[in-house]
Order: sequence, then structure tokens, then C-alpha cells
Amino acid sequence: MESWKQAEMAFENTMAGSYDFHYYSSPISRAHLREFFILVQRYVVPDQFVLDIGGGTGAVSEQLLKRGHRRIVAVDLSLAMLREAKKKMPQLATIVCDGEHLPFKGEAFRTIVCSSVLHHLPFPDRMLGEIKRALAPYGVVVAQEPSRDHYFSTPRSAQASGISMALMHYLYRIERYVPVSEPSIHEYHRAFTRQELVKLFSDQFFILDFWSRFAFSCLFSKLRSPRMARLVLAMDRCLHHNEGSVFHIVCSKTEVGHRNLLKNYFQYLDTLRADPDQRLSWLFLAGLLPLIVAGRIYELYERVRSKSGKSVF
Ligand SMILES: C[S@@+](CC[C@H](N)C(=O)[O-])C[C@H]1O[C@@H](n2cnc3c(N)ncnc32)[C@H](O)[C@@H]1O
Repeated sequence: MESWKQAEMAFENTMAGSYDFHYYSSPISRAHLREFFILVQRYVVPDQFVLDIGGGTGAVSEQLLKRGHRRIVAVDLSLAMLREAKKKMPQLATIVCDGEHLPFKGEAFRTIVCSSVLHHLPFPDRMLGEIKRALAPYGVVVAQEPSRDHYFSTPRSAQASGISMALMHYLYRIERYVPVSEPSIHEYHRAFTRQELVKLFSDQFFILDFWSRFAFSCLFSKLRSPRMARLVLAMDRCLHHNEGSVFHIVCSKTEVGHRNLLKNYFQYLDTLRADPDQRLSWLFLAGLLPLIVAGRIYELYERVRSKSGKSVF
């Protein structure tokens, strides 16, 4: 096994016992998980298998199980992380394996969740290649990864960033929380720029949605007070045009967006003009266009209904 994988495994094995406490015990980190889960849930098909790749302690799998989805498989390089998942969910199917070599036949999963895994890998394209192989033809990958282009890291936001950081320290002091810097894992652990991530996914998939989230609340992920957390989370809306701390990505092997439908529709009209022998009712063709438009309105309605936020791609 490559040395970085050994380092990764050793790190995750050490972290496993305290992972949920560090990353999912505060109201803001739970709210971030909820936002991601709302997105995941939109793409889970009842009775179809879901793969949670690099599933760790099972944060996403747990939400799916709670809502009655039974066909979930969590895989991870770290036995200790999966043991923590098993403690919470004895019924969860788990496999210790390398996500670059999945022990499944091709096209086995309708939905693959990849939450905060790729930024641990020196060659994330390899895992994405494996994900593509395991994904069903009309399946969907839902992923999240940390962003390096965070709004507060830009020079033009230096002042806003300064005030926000001071506020963070002020609130942490009230709660007697002392920020600790995380131990480093290995040299490949890093956040992505938007361009890097778009390229990484679009080299192998069609990107259906690409959102940037949590521009403000990311600073306060350790805050304990639920009331203060609600106020902080509301502030994310004020910065929603700016780059956040996390990217949410939805993509598929097959291009199924409304833009593609429209493109195909007009291409087909051209073909028909060139080939008058094709007998097709004009009524049918005239009906297809409003149906595609109605489909788009339906999609937007579902998006608002599921509170999954605004697309900024
Ligand atoms: C930051 S944790 C994310 C855990 C979980 N998905 C979540 O969102 O809470 C990254 C996980 O990826 C796993 N991982 C890293 N490299 C992997 C690989 N090559 N194959 C499978 N899992 C891997 C680690 O063991 C770790 O559990």
C-alpha cells in the first residue's frame, strides 16, 4: 500500500473515537450536515442501493437510515472509522476497502455519496474513475469538498474578515472554547479551488449542480449555543453571492439536464427538416417543448421545496 494511504489510515484510526465530537457535535456543524443531507436525499431512489464512499463514522448513512432507506453500503479505508459507524448503526453494511479499488461490479449503485473524501487524496481522479464505474447509467454522485477560494481569504474582504474573526474569538471566549489547530495528515491533504474541482468532476462526469455554501457560518463551527448558531447561519444568506467554505457537487454519467433536453430538441427539429420522410405528428413535437419547460419549472419548485438553496454554478 502507498505510504500516503498508510498515513491516512493511521490518522483516521487515531481520530475515529473523537471524530463525531470534533466535526458533528456543534449546532452549526450539524446544520451544515443537514444542508448536505437535504441535497443527498433528493437523489436517493427508494429501494435502490446507495454507496457512501469514504463514509467514515457514517454521518450521511445515519441520516439515510433514520429516514428509512435500508440499502446503504458504507466503505472506508479505516476500520476504526467504520467501527464507530457500526456502534451507532449495527444494521449498516460496511466494508473496509480502498475507494480506488471498489469490490463491486460495475453500475451497481444509483446514488454515490462522497462526503469530504477527495481532498484527502493525491490522485482524486482515480477514486472518481472507480465511482464512475460503480455508478448506474442514470445514477448520480453527490459530493462535498472544502473550498480554498473562501470569500474571507480574498484581499478585498480583509476588513470584513477581520471583524468576523474577532467576533468568532469573542463568542468562543464567552463559551470558554480554545480553538485548537488540527494535526496535519499528509502532504496531499488540501482544499480545492472552484476551477480545480469543476475540472476534476467535468473530466469524468456531467455536472448537474455546483454550489458554494456557508461563507460566514464556517468560522463558527465550534459554537455551542443553538440560538447564536441560528443567527450566525442566517448571516450566510447575506453572503450567498460569495464563495463559501464548502462546495456541493451533483453530477452524473449521463447528461440529463434541461439544457441538454432543449439542445437535443432543437437538433431533432433540424434533423426532421432535413429528412421529410420521418413521419412524426407536429402536435407531438409542439407538445414536447412546453413539457420540457414545465419540467424545468417542476425541478425549480422541487428545489425550493426541499430547501436545498440557490445554484451558483
Ligand atoms: C474527512 S473524512 C469524511 C468522513 C465522512 N464521509 C464524513 O463526511 O463525515 C474522510 C474519510 O475518507 C476516508 N478515506 C480516505 N482515503 C480513502 C480511500 N482511498 N478509500 C476509502 N476511504 C478513504 C478516510 O478514512 C476518512 O474516513
